[in-house]
Amino acid sequence: MNPNERNTMTILVTGTSGHLGRLIVEALLDRGVPAPEVVATARNLDSIADLAARGVAVRRADYTDPASLKEAFIGVDKAILVSSSEVGNRVTQHANVIDAAADSGVSLLAYTSIANAETSTLLLAADHQQTEQYLMTSGLPVVLLRNSWYVENWTEQIPVALEHGAVVGAAGDGLVSAATRADYAAAAAAVLTLDDQAGKVYELGGTPFTLGEYAAELSVQSGQPVTYQDLPTDDYVALLEGAGLPHAVANVYADADRGLKEGELLVEGGHLEQLIGRPSTQLSDAIKQHLA
Ligand SMILES: NC(=O)c1ccc[n+]([C@@H]2O[C@H](COP(=O)([O-])OP(=O)(O)OC[C@H]3O[C@@H](n4cnc5c(N)ncnc54)[C@H](OP(=O)(O)O)[C@@H]3O)[C@@H](O)[C@H]2O)c1
Repeated sequence: MNPNERNTMTILVTGTSGHLGRLIVEALLDRGVPAPEVVATARNLDSIADLAARGVAVRRADYTDPASLKEAFIGVDKAILVSSSEVGNRVTQHANVIDAAADSGVSLLAYTSIANAETSTLLLAADHQQTEQYLMTSGLPVVLLRNSWYVENWTEQIPVALEHGAVVGAAGDGLVSAATRADYAAAAAAVLTLDDQAGKVYELGGTPFTLGEYAAELSVQSGQPVTYQDLPTDDYVALLEGAGLPHAVANVYADADRGLKEGELLVEGGHLEQLIGRPSTQLSDAIKQHLA
């Protein structure tokens, strides 16, 4: 494609081999964006062959390969950078994507950040804070989607919780505004298809709950006793290591619960519901879907 040809409707999504990126593609299609105007990218095109078969434009884009990113952004109007899963390498990877977007001159770049990024003390927040700063100096029209936790962080562990009759964590009575990935994806698709989004910052999350409330709801719906077992942070790290996680990863997970306990994953303002135009998926429905 000639780099000077710009289809003003073309929307690029990164990380579409992953859960959230793929759901953003689906949400864009649901909003009526024609499949050829959605550019789904992944570092391995085999992983998104099904999207190509449905008429979605697919391009290879590896966050560590600037040439692939430059090629992927040709002719793109708007884009969303789904944060990388490679914690520790993310800042450089994200900068590569942002540079490619800037070279291409996109009219909007959305980024999936973390809740309360400006003040968050979570270990996981540092990469997002540095990426947000890089975005601000890029000169690009940027919109920030600061996502709280995924409900799936817990619902994907339902078999383990039912096996042990316990949800284990170190989050105390902290409230988390978790929402489903599908709801965050619907919000992203809205931002990418609405006008006048540059400069906006959305703090996104669902109806808050405690892990005790989550365990109680899981117990009701499964018909099996499940309680929330709260551990001191160090004990939780040890438990996660005992389950086979490397120390650094266990530490990050336990630190996330520490932040949750201190309210760092609680968001207010109703931005998610405003963007998706309906109530966010309730915890009970998310559990029901996973049990089904
Ligand atoms: N809010 C939360 O609760 C929460 C929880 C977990 C993660 N996150 C963050 O949100 C992001 C999206 O969540 P998710 O559930 O969709 O994660 P996911 O399913 O693990 O997807 C991560 C995506 O990042 C891609 N990726 C990693 N390194 C890449 C590279 N060098 N070049 C191109 N793509 C690369 C992966 O590609 P491959 O398929 O090729 O590996 C995959 O498509 C995560 O990456 C993480 O930053 C948030």
